[in-house]
Amino acid sequence: MSSKPKSNVSAVYPGSFDPITNGHICIVQRAAEVFEEVIVAVLMNVQKKPTFSVEVRLRMAEEALADVKNARVCAFSGLLVNFMHSRNSKVIIRGLRAMSDFEYEFQMALMNRQLAPDIETFFIVTEPQYSYLSSSAVKNVFQFGGDISSMVPECVRNMMRGKLPEYPNKTIENKTKPFE
Ligand code: COA
Repeated sequence: MSSKPKSNVSAVYPGSFDPITNGHICIVQRAAEVFEEVIVAVLMNVQKKPTFSVEVRLRMAEEALADVKNARVCAFSGLLVNFMHSRNSKVIIRGLRAMSDFEYEFQMALMNRQLAPDIETFFIVTEPQYSYLSSSAVKNVFQFGGDISSMVPECVRNMMRGKLPEYPNKTIENKTKPFE
């Protein structure tokens, strides 16, 4: 990490982090180079039912980000902008992986701006090697016994074990002949 002075602004990086991936970690590391403090805010009451409890998601993020000294991890519920005000933070960080993220992010940024004009959304474009990553894809690959070592840190992988069922990785041959 560089020793250059950072702006004295605190930023919030919100998400489900179900689980945190190397793509998320890269965004936090880069934001931490610019902002004085980066608060990784783990959403508690997500509409899409999370696979991991909020306690586990917090622990995964804390361990994964232990080396990023100016990153904090905490849980939040309700409106993001209310959480931001409670933390005196005026910057939301979001990662952009591909054009497909844009529409959703654009809508969310405008909604947050409507709710709280004092808060700005900053986007960080993902490193190309993480542009295909998502938490669901990682869980899916893991459950079928695929190698996720380049996608999440070891501490996250260890916590995933025992909490997610692993399906037998067998190829089932289909013996039925088509059009019989
Ligand atoms: N690397 C890897 N994966 C990434 C990524 C990156 N850089 N950026 C996004 N993703 C993936 C996530 O893994 C996740 O994948 P999944 O759908 O397979 O689980 C997906 O992109 C989106 O996840 P996330 O960034 O966590 O967004 P979200 O939609 O779960 O949560 C909140 C967005 C929390 C910011 C938003 O719902 C919120 O603010 N909620 C509070 C209520 C509120 O204030 N509403 C008004 C604003 S609209």
